[in-house]
Amino acid sequence: MKIFLDTANLEEIKKGVEWGIVDGVTTNPTLISKEGAEFKQRVKEICDLVKGPVSAEVVSLDYEGMVREARELAQISEYVVIKIPMTPDGIKAVKTLSAEGIKTNVTLVFSPAQAILAAKAGATYVSPFIGRMDDLSNDGMRMLAEIVEIYNNYGFETEIIAASIRHPMHVVEAALMGVDIVTIPFAVLERLFKHPMTDLGIERFMEDWKKYLENLKK
Ligand code: E4P
Repeated sequence: MKIFLDTANLEEIKKGVEWGIVDGVTTNPTLISKEGAEFKQRVKEICDLVKGPVSAEVVSLDYEGMVREARELAQISEYVVIKIPMTPDGIKAVKTLSAEGIKTNVTLVFSPAQAILAAKAGATYVSPFIGRMDDLSNDGMRMLAEIVEIYNNYGFETEIIAASIRHPMHVVEAALMGVDIVTIPFAVLERLFKHPMTDLGIERFMEDWKKYLENLKK
């Protein structure tokens, strides 16, 4: 399973990359706007840091605009993946871009039916939003499981990115389903490390080591 960071913050990406566990990054207009950085410049900086797939989202809503923006963004780096919203124009754009060898990530996917269309259009990635489904009292994990099953049934090559991840159990459940990728906020990545028994264990080992050193001096 690959781990992508869902952020446009360079410090967070640097830390994740240094830990050696980050395979890529996903951004969206909200995440870019939080940083206040120039869009293309920031995408370039992220690509240079992560040296893996970096999703950058188009903001046009019409087919021509999406394709034009996508071709421009694809010039930034070999790592750029074009994030396209799940609409009829978006799916048409994905088909065109796939034929040109430009990588795509169909975003804002909330149903297995939408995920089927993304795969049919030849998307490189599809991003079902788990947390936002849960927020509406729907079962995001069930949607994800159905998408995994359908993709396995037909051997679709589109990789599934479990997105809108809110907590470590989302990551674990997605991994149990054999999802290809999870994209997670930095705060959730940090929480993946944590277990109170690990902290307690380290504390006890350190105390015992101190005792051992003191005993050696006697
Ligand atoms: C996916 O690529 C999106 O950027 C992201 O996961 C959205 O998550 P949110 O619901 O936390 O905004």
